[in-house]
Amino acid sequence: MCGVIGYVGAGATPSFFLNALRRLEYRGYDSAGIAMLTQDGVVIQRAEGKLSQLERKLDKLPATAKVGIGHTRWATHGKPTENNAHPHRSGPIVLLHNGIIENYRQLKEMLVVKGYEFLSETDTEVAAHLLHHEYKNLTSGTPEQRMREALRVVVRQLKGAFAFGIICLETPEVLYSAKLGSPLVIGQADGESFLASGITALVEHTRQFLVVEDGEIVVLKAGQIEIESFDGKPVVRPFSRVEWSVAMMEKGGYRHFMLKEIHEHPLAIAQTLSGRVQRDSGSINLADLGVGSLPLKTLKRVQIVACGTSFYAASLSKYFIESVARIPVEVDLASEYRYRASTVDENTLVVAVSQSGETADTLQAIKSARAAGAQTLAVVNVPGSTIAHACHAESLTKAGPEIGVASTKAFAAQLTALYLVGLALAQERETLNQAELRFYVDEFVKIPSLVEKCLGLSESIERLANRYHQLSSLLFIGRGPQWPVALEGSLKLKELSYIHAEAYAAGELKHGPIALIDENMSVVCLAPRDAYYEKTLSNIEEIKARGGRILAVGQENDAQLQELADDFIGIPECSEAILPFITTVPLHLFAYWIAVRKGTDVDQPRNLAKSVTVE
Ligand code: AGP
Repeated sequence: MCGVIGYVGAGATPSFFLNALRRLEYRGYDSAGIAMLTQDGVVIQRAEGKLSQLERKLDKLPATAKVGIGHTRWATHGKPTENNAHPHRSGPIVLLHNGIIENYRQLKEMLVVKGYEFLSETDTEVAAHLLHHEYKNLTSGTPEQRMREALRVVVRQLKGAFAFGIICLETPEVLYSAKLGSPLVIGQADGESFLASGITALVEHTRQFLVVEDGEIVVLKAGQIEIESFDGKPVVRPFSRVEWSVAMMEKGGYRHFMLKEIHEHPLAIAQTLSGRVQRDSGSINLADLGVGSLPLKTLKRVQIVACGTSFYAASLSKYFIESVARIPVEVDLASEYRYRASTVDENTLVVAVSQSGETADTLQAIKSARAAGAQTLAVVNVPGSTIAHACHAESLTKAGPEIGVASTKAFAAQLTALYLVGLALAQERETLNQAELRFYVDEFVKIPSLVEKCLGLSESIERLANRYHQLSSLLFIGRGPQWPVALEGSLKLKELSYIHAEAYAAGELKHGPIALIDENMSVVCLAPRDAYYEKTLSNIEEIKARGGRILAVGQENDAQLQELADDFIGIPECSEAILPFITTVPLHLFAYWIAVRKGTDVDQPRNLAKSVTVE
């Protein structure tokens, strides 16, 4: 998704904008641009491709400017060319945008009739000309007052999603923005104000942030911000301090962010557990987990909505939550859930799981659930995210900033938070006694060190990758909770190495997919010693009988499985309850090393964005 950055203050250099845009690269992009406003006018530089292309033009920008905006574009309307890169200009207006203006065609036709000349294929340029048109139409008031009124008129005409960065040559020390549907945060430091698509862009300049809500216009000046609703009512919202550091966003000596973040699985789990479980009593701290305000005792059912990897974490948690809290749990793809007839009521808890907290499908799904009367909980990794603001309650996964587009440590943190929600339900509904609660808490506390042990498999899995990276297709199978683990493993392989991979519930093989098995097909089989072990072994036999190759993931001392498999990844012994945390790690490493071997862009795979804020 596009990245937006803006600055107003004593002075920012071209490098400030470029570095801030670099912190947003993980959002995915294909072109970029910067505009800087000085008393001599505005200078705009844009470039197709990676930021390194834009960097070559920095010397054409002013040495410093009091106001400026920057953008990384993930093309929606119009090819990724310099001409379509943001920002776009119309008279005194220079504007950039993250989102999609769905009614841009009608607006464009109206503006062409009024004589506006379009130089790009983008919907964004429509907004620039429209704002220019409305600004020109206003004859009374100061330029700033006319800009504010023109913005109010424009946002009421737009349909779709937008987060703007806007400068006007006639108000040389003011930055404007408006937000609907796309993420936008404001930062503030002494005598400086910032806007950005995400806090990672600004953490080296300030820790003071506030989230702009849908339907708000922001006017930023040096060290001063004003927020108003689209209909002009003032909005007052406090800044909050975010404890993310620059170091947390660097690679820390790892070759890729993704490898660093796989190695941060243990920390992400430990941080998400911290403060939320009392080991001696086995009790769950509801307030710290963020669920204290929810009617956990009287709920009749739970629905979980998510996308991608978050959906697999949710699917995994279903098994655990149903088993400990004895409450029905339905898990739905958010993109499907939001269009289906709702069956929720005040006794339904709908949980939105999202690393970014900005995924459009998940946001719309949880909004529809809340509108239908459900209790809502956000399990998110970014503090103050849009999805969190849309819910009654927020349970933060404490994985820290996840930069790699492929989600890894956030998955582990999501699983941790969701399992804790399961224990919180069990505690409040008394479906587990204190000894049982204590057992699970003791098992959860063991996970970080067990995952740490799994990370020691990295070198052996790197060697395995040399035998699998040239495959054109791969199957993943698992039973019970290992089925969503298989789904997650196949997604990681697909999105990182571009190898086709599919995952099946192992019991489904005989109902069709086994037709795919021959000597050219390899199958990753998740076969830990769980309740499904014997049946999974039978599946492995069926595959081998048809010439398929087996890469088995199972307990390190399982000689029988090692004998049966062509390749084997041994995980440490652990209780069945926490197996999914353990079996996921080898699959993340497997996908990573195959991608490295194939030379794909591990941290920013083609066509993907870290946060899909469009539908
Ligand atoms: C996961 O590796 C992918 N990047 C993608 O499936 C992601 O999980 C999905 O887009 C949901 O994102 P979210 O967790 O930020 O909502």
